[in-house]
Amino acid sequence: MKIAVLAGDGIGQEVTAEAVRVLKALELPSLELVDADVGGIAYKRHGHPLPPETLGTVRASDAILFGAVGDPDCDALERHLRPEQAILGLRKELGLFANLRPATVFKGLEDLTSLRPDVARSIDLLIVRELNGDVYFGEKGMRTTPGGLREGYDIMSYNEDEVRRIAHVGFRAAKAKGGRLCSVDKANVLETSQLWRDIVIEVAAEYPEVALSHMYVDNAAMQLVKDPGQFDVIVTGNLFGDILSDQASMCVGSIGLLASASLGEGSFGLYEPIHGSAPDIAGQDKANPMATILSAAMMLRHSFGEEAQAARIEAAVAKALANGVKGGDLGGNAGTREIGDAVLDNL
Ligand code: NAD
Ligand code: IPM
Ligand code: MN
Repeated sequence: MKIAVLAGDGIGQEVTAEAVRVLKALELPSLELVDADVGGIAYKRHGHPLPPETLGTVRASDAILFGAVGDPDCDALERHLRPEQAILGLRKELGLFANLRPATVFKGLEDLTSLRPDVARSIDLLIVRELNGDVYFGEKGMRTTPGGLREGYDIMSYNEDEVRRIAHVGFRAAKAKGGRLCSVDKANVLETSQLWRDIVIEVAAEYPEVALSHMYVDNAAMQLVKDPGQFDVIVTGNLFGDILSDQASMCVGSIGLLASASLGEGSFGLYEPIHGSAPDIAGQDKANPMATILSAAMMLRHSFGEEAQAARIEAAVAKALANGVKGGDLGGNAGTREIGDAVLDNL
């Protein structure tokens, strides 16, 4: 159980420290944690956001626990040197194409979401976001139009194999949940989405037990706040999944609660909260570490088959919340460390 710990920038450092404390408290006999630099901090120390040393550590590991990357000081750097390239590079380099982002309402938080309590209560959603393609990884650049205007461009594309493999992940997840699969696209406008939809329909033939529906992304954004209980599993592309998952986080209370697993074909995975480095609250003991702690639970489940230990962490988080331990993101005043203590107490 060799885990590369890539805490990164801003609150990434603070929230990862709490998740590490929780992992250590489980007293797993084979647990080995190795720290490595990533993001803006890695750029400042090594001249690159994803230095070769870090890639080496990662390749010698069984899983990655990731905090967050992003530093306002680095926003003017050439794009390939920006902190965000580290997480994009890891996902692509390691073939982690399937991003699972679960969103469920913890008991006691029904009144604290951005939705009416009766609407929030119904949420038990998994967003399956494709992570290796889409407009994120197409050709991009700046050029000058014939009329002399500066123009930025980013090519959006998916090939059929990329869609097929993420569609299978979506269908398998829906089957495991005994639920429905909603594929979200923009097929009324985008060719990329038309192919997406065609392939998802093809793959559906292998999963007769899963009820498949299709929704345009603009409607999905609306339905997610109108009636989130209609969704069991959403499968969607990289960009739409990014946006819809931040939205889903507020439907269950806070972005500080949403964990994620990024998986490829094998058991290796990268586990990270869906939020970023939050420069506005970094270094102030204000960040909610629960999303990262819950990501560590996902790691134990998906990479190591340690279902009981994963459930133990999730139960401890639920208990801490039920006992009223809440950070500023949920209208409370518990600090990062204090929230970590509460989870440890409830393990
Ligand atoms: P963000 O997720 O960092 O923050 C958005 C808002 O949510 C902020 O007000 C922040 O204070 C709050 N927030 C986020 N996480 C929180 C937590 N755990 N507890 C309490 N409040 C929390 O998004 P942003 O502000 O758009 O981006 C900041 C930087 O992070 C940028 O450089 C961005 O590129 C980067 N980013 C990185 C990742 C990642 O590493 N995977 C994800 C998203 C954004
Ligand atoms: C996320 C982030 C990243 C993304 C950024 C930092 C590249 O927003 O993990 O959700 O867009 O995937
Ligand atoms: Mn995001």
